[in-house]
Amino acid sequence: MILMDKIVIVGGNRLKGSVQISGSKNAVLPIMAGTLLADGRYHIQNVPMLRDVKTMSRLLQSMGTDVALYEHVLQIETKNCSIFEAPYDLVKTMRASIYVLGPLIGRFGYGKVSLPGGCAWGPRPVNFHIEGLQKLGAHIEIEGGYIVAKAKRLKGARIMLPQPSVGATGNLLLAAVLSKGSTLIENAAQEPEIASLSDFLNKMGAHIGGIGTSSLEIEGVDTLNPTDMSVIPDRIEAGTFLIAAHLTGGDVKVEEINARHLTALLKHLRKSGASIEVVNHAVRIQSDGQIKPVNVTTDVYPGFPTDMQAQWMVLMSLAKGSSVITEKIFFDRFTHVSELQRLGADITLDHNKAVVWGVDHLCGAPVMSTDLRASASLILAGLVAAGRTDISRVYHIDRGYEHIEEKLKPLGAEIWRDQEPLII
Ligand code: EPU
Repeated sequence: MILMDKIVIVGGNRLKGSVQISGSKNAVLPIMAGTLLADGRYHIQNVPMLRDVKTMSRLLQSMGTDVALYEHVLQIETKNCSIFEAPYDLVKTMRASIYVLGPLIGRFGYGKVSLPGGCAWGPRPVNFHIEGLQKLGAHIEIEGGYIVAKAKRLKGARIMLPQPSVGATGNLLLAAVLSKGSTLIENAAQEPEIASLSDFLNKMGAHIGGIGTSSLEIEGVDTLNPTDMSVIPDRIEAGTFLIAAHLTGGDVKVEEINARHLTALLKHLRKSGASIEVVNHAVRIQSDGQIKPVNVTTDVYPGFPTDMQAQWMVLMSLAKGSSVITEKIFFDRFTHVSELQRLGADITLDHNKAVVWGVDHLCGAPVMSTDLRASASLILAGLVAAGRTDISRVYHIDRGYEHIEEKLKPLGAEIWRDQEPLII
């Protein structure tokens, strides 16, 4: 019998205390891929102990690189990297594997990376990555489900992204830093994770200007050197804990964060009735559990993050009144809606808009995780639902939240991990 982890929550406890936020998943993954750009030893600190970090480690190892992850520190030695391929088995479990394509083609002139395919909430194309690399002079073919990219040496170019894609901006940066001449990426993503990747590459000797803006200028260099780096805090993990506190009428200090990265969320939390105090590297949230309805529309940074949409929906499910949540980044990112409805939420979905009618209370029930942020929303709902909620398939949550139950327990939540048989 195959057993799978599940999370069990008995809801209703008010959260109180402080919680330390881990390093950012979406910041560390492109940095790990970036280590392929120069031979040598890297020392990366504040690394979150997550399934996706392990998957990226396995991918780098499959290319011949030595990777050790211990107590939030990654040691990577790249001198034996000799296989320039990312196999389907790994890419299908983590789309961010595509980040190795940029460094492979930029440094070795060859990269073969499986196409990631769709994801739980619909198609997620990588055409911007491919078209951008072609502008830099890569010859790209799709063969047997793989992107096969070849180039002698990439040449700087002007690339206008059709949309400010995080992944495409990261991949093109990773490719362009070793190209000949200068590259301009316009309509680039401005997310903090892209700024942190740029900082890492500049520490390696790259010349990237315009960091944090929508126009990134890269002056290609011939070689780069290994460097050390500390991973920025995870703004989405932080936001999830802030919502947990508001939902439960709690008083929680969320520590080791960069509050500037949370500006849009903090503004919405204040509007919804929470009291927010920013102190150095922490945010204290206090709530009396009275939640006001606030509409949100997801947007690229510095707008409201799509990665917080599912969690916001739980908050709005218990608001005094109705609100509208519009998803502008991933139109189909609503797999959590039907599970939240099983817990008693009143949500009507129309294309990329959800109308959420606040209810008095949610009721615990067995539910199933469908993807990472949907799982986070179910945990939040379980924390406030009456009775017991069993959340199955929590391997999704382990991709992006480090021991979430261990962080919630000291705040007063009744939550534990259990196992159940896998029934196919
Ligand atoms: N898009 C294309 N073609 C492309 C690339 C993107 O059409 O080649 C579209 C997407 O379909 C989407 C939009 O552009 O509509 C933005 O997608 P983006 O490329 O920015 O997303 P991503 O790089 O695939 C990263 C995060 C996601 C996060 C999004 C948006 C990582 C590893 N993933 O994905 O994080 O939702 O940016 O902020 O950084 C998560 O952590 O749960 C997660 C899904």
